[in-house]
Amino acid sequence: MKRISALFLAILLTFALAGCGNTEQREPSTPSESTQQPNQTVTVPTESTPSEIALPEDFVLINGGTFQMGSLESEAWRSEDETAHAVALSDFYISRYELTQAEYQAVMGENPSSFSGDNLPVENVSWMDAISYCNARSTQEGLTPVYVVDGQSVSWDRSANGYRLPTEAEWEYACRAGTDTPFNTQTSISAEEANYWGHYPYLIEDNYFSQGNLETKPGVYRQTTVAVGSFDPNALGLYDMHGNVGEWVWDWYGSYETGEQTDPTGPASGTRRVYRGGGWNDFAKNLRSAYRATLPPDSASYNLGLRLVRNAGTGSGNVESSSTQSNGQSGGNILIAYYSWGGNTRGIAQEIQRQTGAELFEIEMVTPYSTDYNTVLDQAQEAQNNQDRPELSNHVEDMSQYDTIILGYPNWWASIPMPVASFLEEYDFTGKTIVPFCSHGGGRFGQSLTAITKMVPDAVLGEGLAVSYSGGSGLSEDVAAWLEENNISFE
Ligand SMILES: Cc1cc2nc3c(=O)[nH]c(=O)nc-3n(C[C@H](O)[C@H](O)[C@H](O)COP(=O)(O)O)c2cc1C
Repeated sequence: MKRISALFLAILLTFALAGCGNTEQREPSTPSESTQQPNQTVTVPTESTPSEIALPEDFVLINGGTFQMGSLESEAWRSEDETAHAVALSDFYISRYELTQAEYQAVMGENPSSFSGDNLPVENVSWMDAISYCNARSTQEGLTPVYVVDGQSVSWDRSANGYRLPTEAEWEYACRAGTDTPFNTQTSISAEEANYWGHYPYLIEDNYFSQGNLETKPGVYRQTTVAVGSFDPNALGLYDMHGNVGEWVWDWYGSYETGEQTDPTGPASGTRRVYRGGGWNDFAKNLRSAYRATLPPDSASYNLGLRLVRNAGTGSGNVESSSTQSNGQSGGNILIAYYSWGGNTRGIAQEIQRQTGAELFEIEMVTPYSTDYNTVLDQAQEAQNNQDRPELSNHVEDMSQYDTIILGYPNWWASIPMPVASFLEEYDFTGKTIVPFCSHGGGRFGQSLTAITKMVPDAVLGEGLAVSYSGGSGLSEDVAAWLEENNISFE
């Protein structure tokens, strides 16, 4: 049994790019009559369509209604920021598909995606890029652009009939399609139902020693985006609401208002925008309907794209939104702080130290995790599940003297190790720049940047560096290029 477990672990935790690479791409299928939900109906545009301008045929009218946004307390892997609350929504139109590269290219004349294919979802677009695309496409099609951009401030004209991002509430309502379960496919989701890191189905973290308990067994990990519409749609006829790429929404990240609200638009200001649904390299737990991922509005990722929305009624008023991000510049006095279990992160930190001359600080625990690999896998997932804050045995004497913290850690279960969470909670990072680097076995940052930005919302997040294991012979060059990108000069 022990040998079988060890073997399974070896396979399971071969985070390297051992590819199953089977990218089955089907033609988008048409949702059948069975897509109707009892209390959430899908109708085709009728004469009540307010705009004379025809809607693209792959948009669906979502009839408004009231739903519970957020997750039930009993939902495994939920976070505190998913407080359930009632939301009432008006009708809106939403695209059946994630925005494709062909659609982006046709309007913007460029394609920033990491993977290449007309019918693949566009990715590597920042929130600001997404807003620009919406306006540019509206103009091209003779619609009124929705957004007015003034530096980091963006105002949304709710009466405009152009393309826009869904609000966070609209996105979740459309994704759930009447369900209140972790996924719109009910209590689990398989790699045949969505494009994600199929080796890590829901609850794998707790069940890797006894897979018999798993509702969904590990499946294929495709290591790429796939053509939009490759899987069955949800009950509203929408494809890829879980997986493929995460999808930017309008809202700044913040705690939910818990009273009942109508057409909420999120906080008026903030530092990170929300994105939803998870992508091709996320674990199932981060595909949940209620899971809230965040990044600064000018950040982009190969795991993150968008889906378009249009008004279905006559909206009114403006939604103002401004950034509260301080204009932190990386540089100044630098500290390199890192946690390392097996030495890879330490080696990268030492290379950064060699190139910058900055001070080095290793985050250490009063009671370190086991040095045995199988045991630490178990301890780490349990610590993450419980959101432990292990006591640290060393402390930065005077954090106020540093302007930039280069923060390193290994990717553990698609997030940060809990001693890094203890470190982030110990100090005031307001106005400081955190420049993250991460050693990983194939998952790059996973959801670790979301975890960091949620913990230190008042810090500026610099460009990150994801290093495969110890980085190999290219490490020195990669570190140099990344430091330059962050305007961190050499000693
Ligand atoms: C507990 C544990 C969990 C891990 N989870 C992931 C993961 O989710 N994704 C990934 O790409 N690599 C994962 N890895 C691999 C490590 O990120 C990788 O080996 C890294 O280089 C370790 O850095 P270190 O030597 O500084 O500890 C995990 C390793 C351990 C020990």
